[in-house]
Amino acid sequence: SVVLLLNGPNLGVLGRREPEIYGTDTLADIEAAVAEEVGARGWEVRSVQSDCEGELVRAVHHHCDTTVGAIVNPGALMIAGWSLRDALASYTPPWIEVHLSNVWARERFRHESVIAPLAAGVIAGLGSYGYRLAARSLLHLAAREPA
Ligand code: DQA
Repeated sequence: SVVLLLNGPNLGVLGRREPEIYGTDTLADIEAAVAEEVGARGWEVRSVQSDCEGELVRAVHHHCDTTVGAIVNPGALMIAGWSLRDALASYTPPWIEVHLSNVWARERFRHESVIAPLAAGVIAGLGSYGYRLAARSLLHLAAREPA
């Protein structure tokens, strides 16, 4: 089984991007952490990061039938990423929205996510550890679903 790890704009430079807000873990560190969590169940990770919304839309459709769930950090596409939102609306496996920072403790324009209403759950403010929690949550959700 494969989990889709989807990261949006500006998340490819994690580690050196505003580390006081987003921490010092790189995307590679996060990929390794998620792989470790789901590896316990024999699952694998397919990681896609893009600064372009269309690439993310394509990845969602491409991996819809071949993945058992997804972890999605849309970055600033949370604010007005309507085509990413519509792509995720047709992604049938469970998926979790993750934000490294506590978006509600920040500027007002980050307080509402257009994709959050479609997510199985949202994790924010726990830094890169949030991705681990999301990975564990997907294992938990999958265990509740009939095989
Ligand atoms: C973010 C929060 C977004 O508001 C911001 O645009 C990002 C990162 C986070 O992980 O905290 O790019 O998604």
